Amino acid sequence: MYSDKVMDHFQNPRNVGEIADASGVGTVGNAKCGDIMRIYLDIDDDQVIRDVKFKTFGCGAAVATSSMATELVKGKTIHEALQVTNKAVMEALDGLPPVKVHCSLLAEEAIHAALWDYAEKNGIRIEGLEKPKSDIHEGEEEESEEY
Ligand code: FES
Repeated sequence: MYSDKVMDHFQNPRNVGEIADASGVGTVGNAKCGDIMRIYLDIDDDQVIRDVKFKTFGCGAAVATSSMATELVKGKTIHEALQVTNKAVMEALDGLPPVKVHCSLLAEEAIHAALWDYAEKNGIRIEGLEKPKSDIHEGEEEESEEY
């Protein structure tokens, strides 16, 4: 069901932890499955992501996608990090089963949320970054609202 890369990142997740005084912190969740992901970014004066850590309370695919997402944004500029979509994370993991695609969306949104926090703290606007949703099901019309 899962690729070797997914299993590897699930069993040996990279960049687990927190960053004290992080430049930006983003937390997102999915009300349906109850999973929560938090990403910490340490961004230098050149807007390069020097360090990144994550904490995920969620399924194995959520752990694997957060691990891979942190690897993909590390050392990148904030603009390059914006290009790290859930699709890019999934490709880097050699794919995910269809029922687990939403887990990779959490990773994308958590990065965006952390970048948004950084931008707000510094009074800047990051082009192409929209205010992230804290629940990735917000705004999805086909979802019922009964929870
Ligand atoms: Fe919800 Fe994986 S099942 S994030």
